[in-house]
Amino acid sequence: MTDRHSDLDHRRREASLGGGKSRIDRQHDQGKLTARERVTVLLDEKSFVELGQLVRHQSTDYGLADQRPYGDGVVTGYGTIHGRPVYVYAQDFTVFGGSLGRAHASKIVQILDLALQNGAPIIGLSDSGGARIQEGVVSLGGYADIFLKNTLASGVIPQISAIMGPCAGGAVYSPAITDLVFMVQGTSYMFVTGPDVVHSVTQEEVTAEDLGGAETHAQRSGVAHAVYPNDVACLEAVRAVLNYLPQNCEEQPAIHTSAPSPAGYPSDLDHLIPENPNKPYDMHEVIRLLVDRNSFFPVHDRFARNLICGFARMGGHAVGIVANQPAHLAGVLDIDASIKGARFVRFCDAFNLPLVTLEDVPGFLPGTDQEWRGIIRHGAKLLYAFCEATVPKLTVITRKAYGGAYDVMSSKHIRGDLNYAWPNAEIAVMGAKGAIRILHRAELKQAADRASLEESFTRDYRERFSNPYIAAEHGYIDEVIYPQQTRERLIRGLNMLRNKVLTNPRKKHGNLPL
Ligand code: HXC
Repeated sequence: MTDRHSDLDHRRREASLGGGKSRIDRQHDQGKLTARERVTVLLDEKSFVELGQLVRHQSTDYGLADQRPYGDGVVTGYGTIHGRPVYVYAQDFTVFGGSLGRAHASKIVQILDLALQNGAPIIGLSDSGGARIQEGVVSLGGYADIFLKNTLASGVIPQISAIMGPCAGGAVYSPAITDLVFMVQGTSYMFVTGPDVVHSVTQEEVTAEDLGGAETHAQRSGVAHAVYPNDVACLEAVRAVLNYLPQNCEEQPAIHTSAPSPAGYPSDLDHLIPENPNKPYDMHEVIRLLVDRNSFFPVHDRFARNLICGFARMGGHAVGIVANQPAHLAGVLDIDASIKGARFVRFCDAFNLPLVTLEDVPGFLPGTDQEWRGIIRHGAKLLYAFCEATVPKLTVITRKAYGGAYDVMSSKHIRGDLNYAWPNAEIAVMGAKGAIRILHRAELKQAADRASLEESFTRDYRERFSNPYIAAEHGYIDEVIYPQQTRERLIRGLNMLRNKVLTNPRKKHGNLPL
């Protein structure tokens, strides 16, 4: 080896050690992989090509002149996942706590630019103490550069964030702009300000875990779309989710030629809905019986559980599933469910994933809490998202489709392409009980035997309105089908709609009710 070669070799080895062995040991002791190990797990074997390995910061403040580690706390480059190109950056907590300074930011911006210009997904693995305090405002500028790129890339290429350590301050806003945020249980945190600052400002005592751990963001805030028990499971999930997505907004998701049958018999669907319309059942079971075996990838499964969202395959087609969940809050639409659904619908629409909507919804959740917090404004997000979506839209009403929620859930009126109903579907302005109390208020008040009169009005209402046939007569339902026919109808529909072209009026951008 020549001197020059061994010099390069030495520099490379130094770069690969990041912040040094003791900090790497600390990372491992905490159950975390290093940035380089994560990239190795994420990408196809030997596919990673690193860029900017020898970048160093140019700062001198606070003694930084004497600490200039190679890479500046972030590993960046490109590679493949399932043979398809992706771009990646992984923050290295062993170097200045993964904090972001000028050089670090420029490396991420370069990768974002390459991903955008070449139309391939970008994956960010975050593990960072936020803005590098020693670099001051320059760090803030670096963040802003990244936020701008994330925003410009939004809807053009899939952007996926895996939070794999603390993410404080500016470190949380770039992931928040991206399409999917995955977190690791026990080792990842996201907060604008940490527990100490919270205490000094609000006097609240809170742990990092409660303030911004994976469970908190998966269940309470909805910031995390999914959580995983460790780094490897999280990275494998990133690989898995990319399977459903195209490389960019100009491409269609790949169709898998081998499409395994669902985990069950189609006829199982015929016995799933209870006779009593007020009895819950698990919509996950409907999904399991409709989609290609083991293909359902839930999104936000612990947040707003009254609405199920997730990717799946049907007959090999990648689809986005949006389904009311009668087993949780009767499947009602509330603020959280509306926001969750709207974001998911827009993501699917941006990346050409057909929407399969499974509907059993008693309406929007009434009450002061919801009204005062703006259910009108938030519910409108879901309505807007379904209205705006131009991808193939297929809807199955499994039971209730009441009121405004009937319109919202990808109805024919807002450009649903194929709208099916099961024979027991109830498509009406509202449920029988509520309706007859309004329509017959005076008679019921004066009745000697209120209960039996109410029962007879209810029966009458049910016979007239609690069925799918009036909607079918108006053409609002394309076909009333036996539940066991559903998968076959949906797959044929997805094939039929494969070349669908529909464009919205030209505009700068719409004004989604935020
Ligand atoms: C420079 C930092 C740093 C930072 C951590 N380090 N955060 N260096 N800038 N922001 C360094 C530490 O000095 C330490 O260096 C190493 O990283 C590991 O940090 P520890 O504190 O020892 O680790 P740990 O106990 O695991 O705690 C991690 C942490 C904590 C929770 C992230 O370090 C922390 O609270 N950091 C500050 C977080 C924060 O408030 N950031 C907001 C910045 S303002 P050595 O040499 O000992 O290994 C911001 C605004 C941007 O981001 C707004 C844009 C919109």
